[in-house]
Amino acid sequence: MSTLAESLFTPVNSSIILLILYYVKDMIFPPVSRPKNAAEVPTTYEKGYTWMPAKHAPTVLYQTYTPKTLVKYDGQNGERIRLAIDGIVFDVTAGRNFYGPDGMYGNFAGRDASRGMAKQSFDVEMLTPIDEPLDKLQDLDASEIENMRGWVEHFTNKYIICGKLVENDAI
Ligand code: HEM
Repeated sequence: MSTLAESLFTPVNSSIILLILYYVKDMIFPPVSRPKNAAEVPTTYEKGYTWMPAKHAPTVLYQTYTPKTLVKYDGQNGERIRLAIDGIVFDVTAGRNFYGPDGMYGNFAGRDASRGMAKQSFDVEMLTPIDEPLDKLQDLDASEIENMRGWVEHFTNKYIICGKLVENDAI
């Protein structure tokens, strides 16, 4: 009389079990097909995950800015938009509706917005001329400083930190 193991592992059953294991392995560890040369790398979406974007997504480098270099990022001519709060430079291009040339807070684009954020005002008087030393904010009271830090938190959660702001003659 044959044992259970003998009746399970007949040559036919064993082949079927091996075939099943082979397909299950492919399901758990799908084979990766890598392009062999540049011509094989797809540039458009086809199916699955074997596609590449036509060009690299824009990257933002962490840099040191001065008021004079930051002002170039005022969003004019569709360029990127950056602003500083409390010495931290944010790339706020994603908020173009707010900071673009026609945006409600367009004054802050390319500038140190610390005082305006602290005092909750987008008046031009809140901005320090770009050829003057950085605003030290020494006259602000504790609640204004706290308000500014609240904005730093909001911007940190929403935008890209891309640098720090230093005096014009520091670099
Ligand atoms: C007339 C008064 C104001 C109105 C009606 C108003 C309206 C708004 C609205 C609707 C948003 C968008 C909120 C969201 O979608 O998350 C916003 C965001 C904002 N507001 Fe105002 N606001 C006013 C005054 C001010 C003032 C005086 C400042 C000065 C600092 C200011 C600074 C901001 C900033 C920095 C944002 C965030 C934008 C961002 O997330 O990039 N707002 N405001």
